[in-house]
Amino acid sequence: MIDTIANKAPGFRPKIAVILGSGLGGFAEEVKPTAIIPYGELPGFPQTTVGSHAGRLVLGHVGPTTVAVLQGRAHYYERGRIDEMRGVIRTIADLGCETLLQTNAAGSLRLDMPPGSVMAISDHINFTGQNPLFGIEPGDNRFVDMVDAYDPALRRKLLAAAAAVGVRCPEGVYIFFSGPSFETPAEIRAARVLGADAVGMSTAPETVLARHAGMKVVALSLMTNYAAGLVPGALGHEQTLAVANAASGDVRRLLRRFLEDGA
Ligand code: HPA
Repeated sequence: MIDTIANKAPGFRPKIAVILGSGLGGFAEEVKPTAIIPYGELPGFPQTTVGSHAGRLVLGHVGPTTVAVLQGRAHYYERGRIDEMRGVIRTIADLGCETLLQTNAAGSLRLDMPPGSVMAISDHINFTGQNPLFGIEPGDNRFVDMVDAYDPALRRKLLAAAAAVGVRCPEGVYIFFSGPSFETPAEIRAARVLGADAVGMSTAPETVLARHAGMKVVALSLMTNYAAGLVPGALGHEQTLAVANAASGDVRRLLRRFLEDGA
């Protein structure tokens, strides 16, 4: 697949790979494209089953920064395979990406982060008991260090970009549940006790894979709802998409600024 990419974008070397989460695919319009490649043409890339995920790799520039934008990811819940993104992460590492910038839609566990808020991920809790490095080739490099897995220096730059474009952006811990059912209110109460600030169904596996591949990681969540039981009412994917679409402008401006500043 490296050959496929090299043929479509000869000599192009992305510095940062950007994963666009649910409802956030529109950021790809900010990229001055060099090549756009459907995942279907890239062996090892997932055929995503989530309607809002376009499934395209967009190579190009945002300001001075060369990027590989992944418009859509595969989730653990789609086929019950925790290492679904292994081929993607390996490819972007082989292409030369130094950094993985992740975005996702998440549920908020904090009343001071209402739907539409943005949060910089400072750490994660993997609540699934699964690890994308299960079964990876033996060797000591599978024992990946996860201290500062979300790079503190890059996070500071993300926060500076947020301040520069006037987007409030607290830091917090993201807890990864398998989905696809939403969490129960009791699970969310447990997650609060554990120290989580936001909940979602992605991101943590990609962070582990990226750290294993030697990349730095920086990530943000867009709150699309209060997590189960925090406020009265039911949860649904339509709300995730509606709020993500409505609030994606803030994320778009923040990401553009971060990448224009050279990240
Ligand atoms: N839980 C899990 N994933 C989510 C949520 C949620 O409340 N909102 C958006 N993605």
